[in-house]
Amino acid sequence: MTNILCIGAGYVGGPTMAVIAKHCPEYRVVVVDINAAKIAAWNSDQLPIYEPGLDEVVRCARGRNLVFSTEIDRNIAEADIIFVSVNTPTKTFGQGAGRAADLQYWEKTARQIVENSTTPKVVVEKSTLPVRTAQAMERILDCNENGIHFDVVSNPEFLAEGSAIRDMEEPDRVLVGGRETPSGQKAIQAIVDIYAHWVPRDRIITTNLWSSELSKLAANAFLAQRVSSINAISALCEKTEADVAEVARAIGTDSRIGPRFLRASVGFGGSCFKKDILNLVYLCEHYSLYEVAAYWEQVVKMNEYQENRFVSNMVSAMFNTVAGKRIALFGAAFKANTSDIRESPALAVCRGLLEEHAHVVLTDPYALDNARAELGDAAGKVVFEPDPYAAVEEAHAIAILTEWSLFAELDYEAIHESMVKPAFIFDGRNILDHKKLHAIGFNVYAVGRPPMVSFPG
Ligand code: UDX
Ligand code: UDX
Repeated sequence: MTNILCIGAGYVGGPTMAVIAKHCPEYRVVVVDINAAKIAAWNSDQLPIYEPGLDEVVRCARGRNLVFSTEIDRNIAEADIIFVSVNTPTKTFGQGAGRAADLQYWEKTARQIVENSTTPKVVVEKSTLPVRTAQAMERILDCNENGIHFDVVSNPEFLAEGSAIRDMEEPDRVLVGGRETPSGQKAIQAIVDIYAHWVPRDRIITTNLWSSELSKLAANAFLAQRVSSINAISALCEKTEADVAEVARAIGTDSRIGPRFLRASVGFGGSCFKKDILNLVYLCEHYSLYEVAAYWEQVVKMNEYQENRFVSNMVSAMFNTVAGKRIALFGAAFKANTSDIRESPALAVCRGLLEEHAHVVLTDPYALDNARAELGDAAGKVVFEPDPYAAVEEAHAIAILTEWSLFAELDYEAIHESMVKPAFIFDGRNILDHKKLHAIGFNVYAVGRPPMVSFPG
């Protein structure tokens, strides 16, 4: 039996390994983490992350060939293939602070693998890493006294939160990069064999190590760039009475452009986009490619502009002051169908409104606990309210910040009645029926559309 180990039971490691275990019953899949509480949650009925379809997959494989454990050293010793998906956040200190990836957990994990290995292993980079990290990894792994051979393979994840299980079950492609040596090619094949259990062979792409590492950064940079591009156009739409949804449809039907990732919004969030672009920018600067660095950095700057612009639009629409006004924020998660709040534009808007001394009430079906923890000291100034109807009582305004479908299904007539007049809605995700809201009596402000105001008298 082949033993697969995954180090890091986070948003990526947990769901990825659950799907591998489901499809590969003849492999034993162990997921370890330094966080004992997280492992306990993976072993319970209350999994540590919310992801549609995850419960079923975990239930199918856990106890059969899927194991969650805190015993890292012993499981390293027993493993044939080790996936590493520990976190690689943006560095907050020293050289490259705010841009470069913080590789301390990654290096610590590499050393732990060396110390506990007595047999050859394939080590798989699952975390997103700067290009050429595999070389550093190889150098650490090769420094073992027992002469054990390690092969490093890059197998970046492309799953998006909220659709992680579907993305794993039916990926557009799986990417596996490795060395061009016979042993490197054998290692690539070992990883291809895993995915070939359920992914058509023509969707499994093999490349050299560096192309694979760079493709992950480039894919996220391109996706984020599309969101920033449409958001840039949304600002122009608001000035010219063009409608960004109509523009997106018009350009997206060009098959060379395509329709996806053209939804204008309050901004992109999530743990990857900003981190990966800044990482790309740092790499370009490292190689003195300053124009290339500036080009990609603008994608992040445009996103910050969009978040700030949303808050300024709210303040100016509400007679240039929100101080002391109760404002209901619908959504804390960085997108729908996840409890993840990392880099969420909702929290950026929340902080912006707190600076303006607004009374913020935050509602979200799954992400309130995470939001409270993330806001830190500022959380004391925010009311966390699971019930949207309670959140809007006596509120001056609502801002839609996450595209949860439940927000589109609420009774906005009843909501309008319970609010202070004139009542405002700022739809940062363009998910509501704006004409209907306007007819009810709301002043409606959307992203990339002319406002629909209806002041009485
Ligand atoms: C991972 C990668 O880390 C990131 O680089 C990539 O872009 C996406 O996939 P994610 O799974 O979202 O990120 O991170 P997180 O949910 O924080 O999970 C990482 C886990 O690794 C945590 O549970 C943490 O406790 C664990 N960890 C961290 C270890 O087990 N050992 C360590 O030394 C450090
Ligand atoms: C992303 C990549 O899609 C995935 O391939 C990679 O592995 C990890 O990073 P994720 O961050 O989970 O996944 O979410 P994604 O669906 O890409 O959305 C990112 C952000 O962009 C969200 O805040 C989302 O609301 C926003 N977005 C997306 C828009 O504002 N408009 C769009 O049209 C699409």
